[in-house]
Amino acid sequence: MVPLNEQKPVKKQQLDLRVRSNELLPSGLLHLCLENALGAEMPAMLPGQFVEVAVDKANVLLNRPYSIYNCTSDSLELLVAPLGRASIALQKYIKGEHLRVIAPLGHGFSTEFNTTDKVLLIGGGVGIAPLYYQARTLREKGVNVEVVYGSRTNPDARITDRFKAIAPLHICTDDGSAGFKGLVTQHPVTQACEYNFAQVCGPQKMMESLHKFVSAHNINAEFSLENKMACGLGACLCCVENTTAGNVCVCTSGPVFNYKELTW
Ligand code: FES
Repeated sequence: MVPLNEQKPVKKQQLDLRVRSNELLPSGLLHLCLENALGAEMPAMLPGQFVEVAVDKANVLLNRPYSIYNCTSDSLELLVAPLGRASIALQKYIKGEHLRVIAPLGHGFSTEFNTTDKVLLIGGGVGIAPLYYQARTLREKGVNVEVVYGSRTNPDARITDRFKAIAPLHICTDDGSAGFKGLVTQHPVTQACEYNFAQVCGPQKMMESLHKFVSAHNINAEFSLENKMACGLGACLCCVENTTAGNVCVCTSGPVFNYKELTW
């Protein structure tokens, strides 16, 4: 496995992207697909990295950070929970409109594993977004990967079908409307510990309990932190996290950290 700090940096660029499609899914998540307005290829992006999007600049001062849901040579997909002012404004962008995007930013998940490794991806809520690109990347490398997806209620088939097409998917819901009723930490696949690496993204509480779980079972793991961000460039200090290396900016030192770096 290539440690995070040895990942080859990919130079960030300012991109002029055009909306190819923008759809509000039944669960209320926004699925945005962007293409390069100049017809050029999308720059290389690593799963777990993020982008900063300039949304509705007349009313929203700062760019907003979003996880990369999927990236191909000609498209960038985002999965967004439209809760804040910028994310709500993002719903109004229609096919053909342009968005200014800075990408890629931050450090992504590890992607180099042995064929004997088994990786469990665990996502909660909109934290599932970066795990699709990670699952796809790992499967293309022939890595044995499974996914546990925790959702309040029955998640969007538009999301789950994509995962099912590439890897075994285990759904957990709070209300029992689909899959296992309970938390991702309680799911039999998580509990069985038949994997030697976990990669996690989701609500803070979920990640903290998984951090306890992997620490207790000595399972190597990476966590993608969702601290509030503004500049995305290490300048405003609003995303600081206390780690074993001291206080660091999640936007530049993360968002992905090894579990041993986290002091939860
Ligand atoms: S978002 Fe400004 S320092 Fe991280």
